[in-house]
Amino acid sequence: MKHFLCLADLSSDEIWHLLRTARDLKAERQAGRNDPLLAGKALGMIFEKPSLRTRVSFEMAMVQLGGHAVYLSPNEIGLGRRESVADVARVLSRYVDAIEARVYAHRAVEQLAQYATVPVINGLSDFVHPCQALGDILTVWEHRGSVKGQRIAFVGDGNNVANSLLFIGGKLGIDVRVVTPKGYEPHPAVVRLAQEAARQSGAAIVLTHHPAEGVQGADIVYTDVWASMGQEAEAEERKAHFAAYQVNAALMAHAQPDALFMHCLPAHRGEEVTGEVADSPQSVIFDQAENRLHAQKAILAILMSD
Ligand code: CP
Ligand code: NVA
Repeated sequence: MKHFLCLADLSSDEIWHLLRTARDLKAERQAGRNDPLLAGKALGMIFEKPSLRTRVSFEMAMVQLGGHAVYLSPNEIGLGRRESVADVARVLSRYVDAIEARVYAHRAVEQLAQYATVPVINGLSDFVHPCQALGDILTVWEHRGSVKGQRIAFVGDGNNVANSLLFIGGKLGIDVRVVTPKGYEPHPAVVRLAQEAARQSGAAIVLTHHPAEGVQGADIVYTDVWASMGQEAEAEERKAHFAAYQVNAALMAHAQPDALFMHCLPAHRGEEVTGEVADSPQSVIFDQAENRLHAQKAILAILMSD
């Protein structure tokens, strides 16, 4: 593994190696402190968009592994405007030992990886959010004791978070149903790739437009905001299109009685999820947020250790 850009690029063995490493680093931290695996190393963090979880969890991951992180805010470097993506990659590579980047266009993170001489980690692009999916499956593993055979219903927009769940589900044998309004389905190329992986793993990848049908018997119900960062202008129009796709108690009643509720956060209570569901005992949203830290420590340790 040279970079961490998209889970579709990893084998199931590589994903499991990351998950086991995350589990071990979490246990080590909970028992005291992590070994300073990244002492003297630095991570450059490029953000074209806002962030709470990604920024803080990457920074704390570096601190807990004995290294440093340098935060570069959206206005700081003007990726592709003040300076070309290629030059940013080549310059940063002279200062830091790895680069994490949250970008608008997925192409930008691919270009960073093309020109950087250090590992590049995708901290969210318009296409995928692989760090999120890794932390999410760590959360599923902890709560369920297993991963293969779990059934996730993702309800809402066929967006970056849905795409990463499709990729990781297909690789690890998790059934993924994506429930969207018409016109908001994941891209057919993403579905095809996930289905190809699913043929090996035994997962079922299903798209539907019917919330109750999609959620029926699910072990996990997952949702995300209806308008992602960069889609603010469409927010009002989307509210109308997605109104029937809210995850509320009535929809959760179609899932398994002990189904987990998941959300990558930030959440808009009253829109894609009711407060009742988001703050219910079935909700594991803050475990997901915590597990970003442990999952990313695994990514950093594997990519950056000597
Ligand atoms: N889930 C997630 O990536 O959160 P942030 O946008 O706050 O980083
Ligand atoms: N789909 C959301 C995820 C935020 C973590 C977005 O891209 O804004």
